[in-house]
Amino acid sequence: MNLYKDKQIRKGSKFPQNTIRGILLPKIKIRILLRGEHNMCGVVGYIGEKQVAPILIEGLSKLEYRGYDSAGVAILDGTEIKVRKYKGRMSILEEHLKEENIKGTLGIGHTRWATHGEPSDRNSHPHTNCSGSIALIHNGIIENYMKLKEWLIEINGDHFKSETDSEVIAHLIDYFYEGDLLDAVYKAIDKMEGAYAIGVICKDEPDKIIAVRKDSPLIVGIGENENFIASDIPALLKYTRNMYLIENDEVVLLTKDGIKIFNELRQIVKREVLKVTWDAQAAEKEGYTHFMMKEINEQPKGVHDTLHRRLDKEGNIVLDGIKITKEDLEKINKIYIVACGTAYHAGLVGKYAIEKFAKIPVEIDIASEFRYRDPFIDENTLFIAVSQSGETLDTLAALREAKRKGARILSIVNVVGSSVSRESDDVFYTWAGPEIAVASTKAYTTQLVSMYLVALHMAVTKGMLTDVQYKTYMEELKAIPEKIKKILGNTEKIQQLADAQFNNENVFYIGRGVDVAVAYEGSLKLKEISYIHSEAIAAGELKHGTIALVEQDRLIVALATQDKLYDKMLSNIQEVRARGAYVIAVAKEGNKEIEKVADKVIYIPDTLDELTPILSVIPLQIFSYYIAVARGCDVDKPKNLAKSVTVE
Ligand code: AGP
Repeated sequence: MNLYKDKQIRKGSKFPQNTIRGILLPKIKIRILLRGEHNMCGVVGYIGEKQVAPILIEGLSKLEYRGYDSAGVAILDGTEIKVRKYKGRMSILEEHLKEENIKGTLGIGHTRWATHGEPSDRNSHPHTNCSGSIALIHNGIIENYMKLKEWLIEINGDHFKSETDSEVIAHLIDYFYEGDLLDAVYKAIDKMEGAYAIGVICKDEPDKIIAVRKDSPLIVGIGENENFIASDIPALLKYTRNMYLIENDEVVLLTKDGIKIFNELRQIVKREVLKVTWDAQAAEKEGYTHFMMKEINEQPKGVHDTLHRRLDKEGNIVLDGIKITKEDLEKINKIYIVACGTAYHAGLVGKYAIEKFAKIPVEIDIASEFRYRDPFIDENTLFIAVSQSGETLDTLAALREAKRKGARILSIVNVVGSSVSRESDDVFYTWAGPEIAVASTKAYTTQLVSMYLVALHMAVTKGMLTDVQYKTYMEELKAIPEKIKKILGNTEKIQQLADAQFNNENVFYIGRGVDVAVAYEGSLKLKEISYIHSEAIAAGELKHGTIALVEQDRLIVALATQDKLYDKMLSNIQEVRARGAYVIAVAKEGNKEIEKVADKVIYIPDTLDELTPILSVIPLQIFSYYIAVARGCDVDKPKNLAKSVTVE
């Protein structure tokens, strides 16, 4: 995994040797830290002599990029644990705490990115046991939480206040608690399956915090008469630059005077102190200069999680959020996919996949048009809304219009509990995690995976695919995350091409078949972050007018990833080259002929024609990024744009 290469912005902001992100590090540890991490929420904890509330607020405010739909704290104010938690941005919690001014020098805090249970006060963290004597914060997912919950209800009659997987942990620790919190935590984690970084406090042991790490990031901050825990370094930089990186299956006991790290066999382990040298801003971006490049590099994980969370042990697709039966599908005679911007471009690929795999006619439309054109809809219509934020007003209004006319509503959404998901009959959540950069990248590729899974699920339900066909598609889909990593591991050439082309003011993106959909997305990425005028067009359409704009050195990005349309694309490339265009082509590895017709070729790993969009868009994202950087643009916050467009 070469996450580090992309941090090197063009002007060679190289980090000194044997340092990563400017931190002097023994090599091994970091690699362990990053693999397969869940980074959906932010946790923080403090034990010391200072008032804890402001320290928790400061820490959480630096972790909001990890999740921002609800936040809460638990503070031991001498005798009891006070839990204050609210749906919404951290500022709401901050207001409440300022008003109430809870005293205490021991506490834990959490900012949430909902996975299990919609954002609400009761689903916010911290969670407690029935009596409130134990409070807990959790980042990650407890896979077997439902079994544990039923078990605790059956043998202990526990009453649960929330829909979350996390609350189960607090009850489990309570079940094993016999006056030794560390022991109870060990017994509890022995029963848990999944990923977790947890922080636990107990009013009967007011001198400690217990923290545990398993496949979710956890660090410990070392202070004078105080110590800290957090999901990530930015939360603690204001107080200390001395950190311990906690490894998998380690349990930490923090007191104000000391830190003990235990392994899973309860043996104390030694750990080198890390001295952090970089600022908080850089930290939130994990050393990347922009959130966009950080999120581009998070796509292997987003695609992996979005895919594998929908596969059972036999590799069958299980869409828990979608209750569409075979009978329902038989009745559906029309599907609309409706969205805006990048989500609309994902819908274009979805149309292609559903018609190809499930043989159901699909109409794709931009929401701002759909909502006013009085489309024909009835109870045999399936309306699919696609939205990262789930709050885009045009998409929401189109959804309501379709619902009013009797359509069944399926939404593909990234934000749990958002308006679009709440107003849908069926919801397919993408697992991209929080997307901060305005230019959508990881949400798009996870939307594509979602489209393929929905289309394959429909095809299997309707018996439209043979086992061999189904297995072939699934094997190829499972190979995609590694193939994305391969592209991310080799971005120099794309950066050099961007360096050579960033002064263009007009660019065309061309393609055939499903490549046209990716051409639209590539063109939008360039427009929205570099302010270069660019247009996407089906290559076969060029000769009907647009080719009049092709002249000497006109930059054309040509997608040629479809085997059955490859020769046609070669001639389209020759067509524009003959008029002086400079062509950068994107093609599958092994297709060498294209080097004879294009000026430059960016290769992507081979895969099935239908699945290439998840790979071919990556070089286009990176190309746009480096052009925007070369032009000195504010990549993460482009002018005139908002991350979620909640106005008409
Ligand atoms: C994409 O990079 C843009 N941020 C924008 O086009 C976006 O895709 C569009 O506004 C839709 O947003 P949504 O997915 O949150 O509904």
